[in-house]
Amino acid sequence: MELELRINGVIKSLDVAPNELLLNVLRREGYYSVKHGCDHGHCGACTVLIDGLPRPSCVMLAMQAAGATVTTAEGLGSLHRLHPLQETFIDAGAVHCGFCTPGMLLSAYALLQRNPNPSEEEIREALAGNLCRCSGYNRLVQAVQRAAALLRGEDI
Ligand code: FES
Repeated sequence: MELELRINGVIKSLDVAPNELLLNVLRREGYYSVKHGCDHGHCGACTVLIDGLPRPSCVMLAMQAAGATVTTAEGLGSLHRLHPLQETFIDAGAVHCGFCTPGMLLSAYALLQRNPNPSEEEIREALAGNLCRCSGYNRLVQAVQRAAALLRGEDI
């Protein structure tokens, strides 16, 4: 079946099977930041933004995203110009093995879009659906706090 998706601002016309998961379609199209973790919607490694909201792509059919705007971590910044969240994740030492990083970035990005000045509790709540197998949660929270400050134009 033909499926039209807007992925990271680019409209793509894709040929997908009716039972294909969004996770598998995105990886097949080269969006390797979308990780294949638990397969059950529990770990957050496969998180993408659907119309700006974090969703586990491993429990969503590609066809269910028809007409939606899909954002993957590839859409946040580039090699030449990192998103402030990507910069602070690196600077705060919040990237360990890296497997959870894309999903964490997207959940944090969605949070900061709706709340530019989140409390620590709100950050932890926003990241609750993303598991870090290296258990680097404190640095992840610090990275999001620093990115929020940067995006508000404050010195950090
Ligand atoms: Fe989708 Fe774990 S792989 S939530």
